[in-house]
Amino acid sequence: MQAALNIIGDDLKLVEQQFRKDLQSDVPLIRKVGEYVLSSGGKRIRPALLLLAARLSGYTADKAIPLASVVEFIHTATLLHDDVVDSATLRRGLASANSLWGNEASVLVGDFLFSKSFSLMVGVGSLDILKVLSDATTVIAEGEVMQLLCTGELDLTEEQYTDVIRSKTAILMSAACEAGAILGEASQNQQKALADFGMDLGIAFQLMDDILDYVATEEEFGKSIGHDLEEGKITLPLIHTLKNCTASERTVIASVVELDEMSLDDFRAVSCLVRQYGGIDYTIEKARYYIDRCKCHLDQFAHTPVREALLSLSEYVVTRSK
Ligand code: IPE
Ligand code: IPE
Ligand code: MG
Ligand code: MG
Repeated sequence: MQAALNIIGDDLKLVEQQFRKDLQSDVPLIRKVGEYVLSSGGKRIRPALLLLAARLSGYTADKAIPLASVVEFIHTATLLHDDVVDSATLRRGLASANSLWGNEASVLVGDFLFSKSFSLMVGVGSLDILKVLSDATTVIAEGEVMQLLCTGELDLTEEQYTDVIRSKTAILMSAACEAGAILGEASQNQQKALADFGMDLGIAFQLMDDILDYVATEEEFGKSIGHDLEEGKITLPLIHTLKNCTASERTVIASVVELDEMSLDDFRAVSCLVRQYGGIDYTIEKARYYIDRCKCHLDQFAHTPVREALLSLSEYVVTRSK
């Protein structure tokens, strides 16, 4: 991760400035909510992917900065909406925007960020990039709806779950990498390799997020622990457990999934089963599989520090604790 930051550190600072500029609006609430979410931090992984993919493809001009800002805009918009849908109260270690300003404000400011992203993309002037990123936002929306329909579905298969996380999370990382490759006028093969790299990395990223929802500490993760279970979200650690546990243990899990409000004891009962049946280890193995595969997509690029930085970013994804 540090290697990646060293290479693109200055560009990331410019992205922050750009992001702040793009947030300007005559409507004070938009500035207020936008600034709040922006200054609460965030790992900036998607802009980092775009900047590194552009560099790997030989791009050195200045369009990467506004585009990197756009992918973070899109990400932020999805988070504002996602926290409403998930009734989340904590984001990046702070009160979520919906808990401070209400669901209406979060949805509407999220809409502003989405719409603004499209104006900004048009400003960059590449139809190919506009297509990749706008297709990605459509797929994200599909992923979130698919997930909604799977709520509380104990028979959800690993394949269905993987489809959801590919759509809701991995596609944007893939699109960020592909947009960088297009900017650098990489060959068709290399554009595909970078898109595939981002897709596999994104799947691993969401697998780790779903693990952290069971095993992280709230202070480090900056989000509520056990929230997926409370919301009836059936993620891979639980899918694996459900596949292997006894009928009576399944009944216990089912009763917790159905609760509107889950107690700490309820969560502990289920997370014990998840650990006992190897749900965490199984999911880590899967994340490791996708990360190893994502690294292979970079084989066709020369061994440069930029490629090294993307490899270390991938490693960070499976070792992160926040
Ligand atoms: C959160 O993404 C949403 C998921 C896809 C799990 P990040 O973990 O990248 O969020 P920030 O921007 O760093 O807070
Ligand atoms: C990611 O899923 C949602 C989006 C990418 C829109 P999660 O619901 O797991 O993300 P967090 O845990 O709220 O960050
Ligand atoms: Mg969420
Ligand atoms: Mg999550």
